[in-house]
Amino acid sequence: MQQSPENDRQIEALLEFYSGAGVDCFLGEDPVDWFALTREQAERRAQAQNLAQPMTAMAPAGSQAPHAGGPQAPTAMPSAAAAPQARRPDAGAPAVLPDAAVIASARDLAAKAATLEDLQACLAAFEGCNLKLTAKKLVFADGNPQARLMFVGEAPGRDEDLQGKPFVGRSGQLLDRMLEAIGLDRSAAYIANVVPWRPPGNRTPTPQETEICKPFILRQIELVNPDVLVFLGAASAKTLLGVEDGIRKMRGRWMAYPGRDKEIAAVATYHPAYLLRSPLEKRLSWRDFLSIKARLTGN
Ligand code: URA
Repeated sequence: MQQSPENDRQIEALLEFYSGAGVDCFLGEDPVDWFALTREQAERRAQAQNLAQPMTAMAPAGSQAPHAGGPQAPTAMPSAAAAPQARRPDAGAPAVLPDAAVIASARDLAAKAATLEDLQACLAAFEGCNLKLTAKKLVFADGNPQARLMFVGEAPGRDEDLQGKPFVGRSGQLLDRMLEAIGLDRSAAYIANVVPWRPPGNRTPTPQETEICKPFILRQIELVNPDVLVFLGAASAKTLLGVEDGIRKMRGRWMAYPGRDKEIAAVATYHPAYLLRSPLEKRLSWRDFLSIKARLTGN
């Protein structure tokens, strides 16, 4: 192909498509057994993660993360600009095969995070989830960490990946309008996702990716310690409550989520992305949001 600005643009567009779809390396002439290589790497990495003390501010290894009942120091949300960036693929970082050792290391690291800042830094340094290789940014949280209301979605999309903040695209704008309808805004809510990196092409996170990320969102909920927890869509509710029902059956039904020192009132509602496709269902979401408001105000 001859070099010209038009060709350059086409090549760039093609590369962007590949990168978005998760293709991040070229094929060589000789076959490579990536499974053997990545398993070995995953084991070494999990060992390294277990040995590493990634945060000086974290509790010492083996100690219980401080939470039970103790007052939580005010923790300001780091701004998106200051948020650590996800690392881009490079030749020295082969994909990790999710296995029990990686999941165990995620659990261990999350448990040691004593504050939300620790947890964010810990995720930014975590190499156990392959989604980080294709994501542009870590999407940790938005809103107010002191809020009584917490929302948990499934995984970031394209806009969230670009900005490093959850629910900022079209579904996020709908979420803002729904909050506004009950007299609230993001200063009265804390928003996060089960998976903090965008899956390539917005595909559904695999069960392994979800399992690897789960200890971090569990710890995030523990550290925020909200009074009311809202799952946006069935995926986050299924992951965090272990319920098997579909969203139609589950939505609007209050459940008890085991918090660090109390039972948290938890409910699932339709994901705003679903509401954008099925606007008639907004009637039911409206009921859910009124019920959320009533829980918060005790009415
Ligand atoms: N959908 C989600 O589940 N999370 C986001 O942050 C954006 C869209």
